[in-house]
Amino acid sequence: MTQARKGATDVDAVVLVGGKGTRLRPLTLSAPKPMLPTAGVPFLEHLLSRIRAAGMTHVVLGTSYKAETFTEYFGDGSAHGLEIEYVVEDSPLGTGGAIRNVADRLRHDTAMIFNGDILSGVDLGDLLSTHRRTSADVTLHLVKVADPRAFGSVPTGKDGRVQAFLEKTNSPPTDQINAGCYVFSRAALEDIPAGQVVSVERETFPGLLAAGARVFGHVDSTYWLDLGTPAAFVRGSADLVLGTAPTAALPGPTGASLVLPGATVADDAILTAGTTIGAGASVAAGAHVTQSVVFADAQIGAGARVENSVIGAGARIGADAIVVDAVIGDGAVVGDRCELLSGVRVWPGVQLPDGGVRFSADA
Ligand code: GTP
Repeated sequence: MTQARKGATDVDAVVLVGGKGTRLRPLTLSAPKPMLPTAGVPFLEHLLSRIRAAGMTHVVLGTSYKAETFTEYFGDGSAHGLEIEYVVEDSPLGTGGAIRNVADRLRHDTAMIFNGDILSGVDLGDLLSTHRRTSADVTLHLVKVADPRAFGSVPTGKDGRVQAFLEKTNSPPTDQINAGCYVFSRAALEDIPAGQVVSVERETFPGLLAAGARVFGHVDSTYWLDLGTPAAFVRGSADLVLGTAPTAALPGPTGASLVLPGATVADDAILTAGTTIGAGASVAAGAHVTQSVVFADAQIGAGARVENSVIGAGARIGADAIVVDAVIGDGAVVGDRCELLSGVRVWPGVQLPDGGVRFSADA
């Protein structure tokens, strides 16, 4: 532990948090994705806890969409044992442009870059060791996944050197994918063209390979999840609560559920599979909430069943309603006995009357 902390003290952490998070709408209409409450705290807090545990203390956040929400919550970072700086893009510069944009804030010759929506168990000290051992210009965390067909793949040679960045295909030659966490030498970072939109995945990395740069992979098969979609978001939050996903920022013990202070849960309500109940929220008698994220001040009615869903702040789920694989926006009302299934998204403030939406034919 002391060793790991020592190892990363001379590295700047850069977290990209400027995306609009369109796939998580309507939740991301009011807060950027890294600020969404995940297992009780903004997702970014989990990531920052791992950065801190690895010994990095200087963090630069590359912000754009709803930039002020980050400054308001994290301030100068001192409450988290960090020194946080913010670099705001007036219009989003893309992942590569955002990395280049923080160059003048770096204090060291090495920067560790994080996508702000990845939950990962990679050992950051080991990633840095790989980078140093290989004298790389850039080292990517590559994670082995069970089904790589949904991702671009990144084959490496015996020495760990990246051979190619391949597009999605039905028969990828390797199960290693880009895990969204990189170590850059300052020189490689400064080589990215400044002040323009650049994709690190589609332009910078292939460009570095073509130029013969030393690009290496640090391969592992630890926990890894991109929280970009509602299904992944609820799973990631649940895994943090259950203790399957690593964090040093869980505001309570791991277990089947996390109930934040100020929430009320009826004695016979059932909370399972890593559900979080936010501050001031309530769960009424006989309700069953499983693998779901219930934001602050939401209300779950008596006998309701909520599964794999996100219930927005102040939203109300009526008695005996069924909500499965759904996203319910802030302040929305789902009437008694409604049935909402299969990826449905209810926009903030919408009011569905009692029995007003059903999947089954019975009333
Ligand atoms: P979707 O719109 O749902 O695809 O989400 P997103 O906008 O977050 O995009 P994506 O998941 O591809 O982004 C990966 C990470 O990079 C996220 O943490 C984003 O916040 C961040 N990111 C994406 N584009 C930009 C950008 O232009 N500037 C900055 N600073 N960060 C970005």
